[in-house]
Amino acid sequence: MNYKEKVAQAIQAAVDNQLSMDEILEKIENPKTLELGDYAFPAFILAKTLKKAPQLIAAEIVEKINKDGFEKIEAVGPYVNFFLDKKKFSKEVLEVILANGSNYGNQNLGNNGNVPIDMSSPNIAKPMSMGHLRSTVIGNSLGLLLEKTNYNPVRINHLGDWGTQFGKLIVAYRLWGSEEEVKADPINNLLKYYVKFHQEDVEHPELDDQAREVFKKLEEGDEESLELWKWFREESLKKFTEVYDRLGISFDSYNGEAFYNDKMEEVAEILEQKGLLKESQGAEIVDLEKYNLNPALIRKSDGSTLYITRDLAAALYRYRTYDFVKSLYVVGMEQTNHFKQLKAVLNEMGYDWADEIHHIPFGLITSGGKKLSTRSGRVILLEEVLDDAVKLANQQINEKNPDLQDKKAVAEAVGVGAVVFHDLKNERVNNFDFNLEEVVRFEGETGPYVQYSHARAMSILRKANVTNFGNDMEISDTNAWATLRLLEDFPNTVNKAVEDYEPSVIAKYSIHLAKAFNKYYANSRILEEDDEKMARLALVKSVATVLKESLRLLGVKAPNEM
Ligand code: ARG
Repeated sequence: MNYKEKVAQAIQAAVDNQLSMDEILEKIENPKTLELGDYAFPAFILAKTLKKAPQLIAAEIVEKINKDGFEKIEAVGPYVNFFLDKKKFSKEVLEVILANGSNYGNQNLGNNGNVPIDMSSPNIAKPMSMGHLRSTVIGNSLGLLLEKTNYNPVRINHLGDWGTQFGKLIVAYRLWGSEEEVKADPINNLLKYYVKFHQEDVEHPELDDQAREVFKKLEEGDEESLELWKWFREESLKKFTEVYDRLGISFDSYNGEAFYNDKMEEVAEILEQKGLLKESQGAEIVDLEKYNLNPALIRKSDGSTLYITRDLAAALYRYRTYDFVKSLYVVGMEQTNHFKQLKAVLNEMGYDWADEIHHIPFGLITSGGKKLSTRSGRVILLEEVLDDAVKLANQQINEKNPDLQDKKAVAEAVGVGAVVFHDLKNERVNNFDFNLEEVVRFEGETGPYVQYSHARAMSILRKANVTNFGNDMEISDTNAWATLRLLEDFPNTVNKAVEDYEPSVIAKYSIHLAKAFNKYYANSRILEEDDEKMARLALVKSVATVLKESLRLLGVKAPNEM
């Protein structure tokens, strides 16, 4: 039970069960500053039922309430303010953290239920965009948060590896490509061929016919075309994997769009059987008017299937394979309608698990306030961003700590971590601007700032060189209070992040904790030889543990020194 619940329980007893625990928990407030108390209860919500003045009710609650475990409880106007017993609180909280280490905050919300996470999902033979980066890091963090709360995430990279563009690419490669080029730099050269195709087909429209022909062959399983397609896919994936490795992210499945080639016929059959398939201008659709949505286009007039048909097959496949408790799709906000349609069609098909399909949308990364796009030339290439971030991190390390061991690895962890942290610190639906200098700063609300705070805590512990913190973990120093309160709030924070599918909750929390700790460090002498030295070191250890675990949940490393 957390402290807020303890407060609620005491209140419930004092008001003779006039309110339920949930009602009380919902009403308990956090006072503006800790000087006003740790929790406040607005007694006026009982004024109507009890037909009494709010001040009186507040005073009566204070009279009656069990004050065990509190420093004081006082009525201020219509409020009851609670001050926790700081020594008792610090002892309890620090004991739990030291005993659990990085498992602190683990909880069982998921009963080990499977949760497929559709994440990253870039398109083959094209550079991975910043949008795909967002999907990758948000999906990864959600996976880690789900693991921590005892779900079993299944990370699926639903690669964009099928479609008419592969007909074009194969034609272009045969005309202008070479094996050496593709091997040397697959993504850029494949992109180059593709772009050239689009320049040439203006004057040579027969190219488009050829491309259609090749794609048809590909769909029919023509060996030679399939070989090329497979090779392009592999080479692209190798390149993507370099980025995934740098981010420390791996997948359980790379079943992309092509995987569902032989699984769509069944979908069409089920739709047919259930009388859901309608004809419209030669194409086959599912009408979704009652959902206020455009019809879902299942099969085009030439018989070819579409994005949503593949997603229907994928949803069904995932349900059968994983028997999921929920199924997540971390995909940009611009695809909101697509996922609404997907859910609606599954619902029409009579699958009750359609309710457990969740689109987890996110906003755009902008530059100078403008949308990034290929056409405007404002493309940001992920690898370049990571390289530049690492360079900047390296510069700062050279200024601050030139003798640091393992500088290269630390700069990589800080640079890459900075980019990831910046992405996750914003509520995911918001657009945000990308400015590299901002992102890699060691001060302010950045990843490096949190990493630096962790490293500082580790350095204090190295200096103190204790292995056993003893049993006396009572801290009376009020400077430590904000930090202690935040430490206690970590499990609750994890819970909130999972429930809202929102890694930013953890990122923001880690900034608050780092700030509180740095303030404490600036105002108290931690290594002073007195009664509370060991308790203070236990606090430092707990801060290091929770900062590191917070960063881990975001997919960011925490070097011990920087
Ligand atoms: N490849 C797609 C794109 O880049 C994203 C795929 C998302 N996942 C899905 N199951 N539709 O836009």
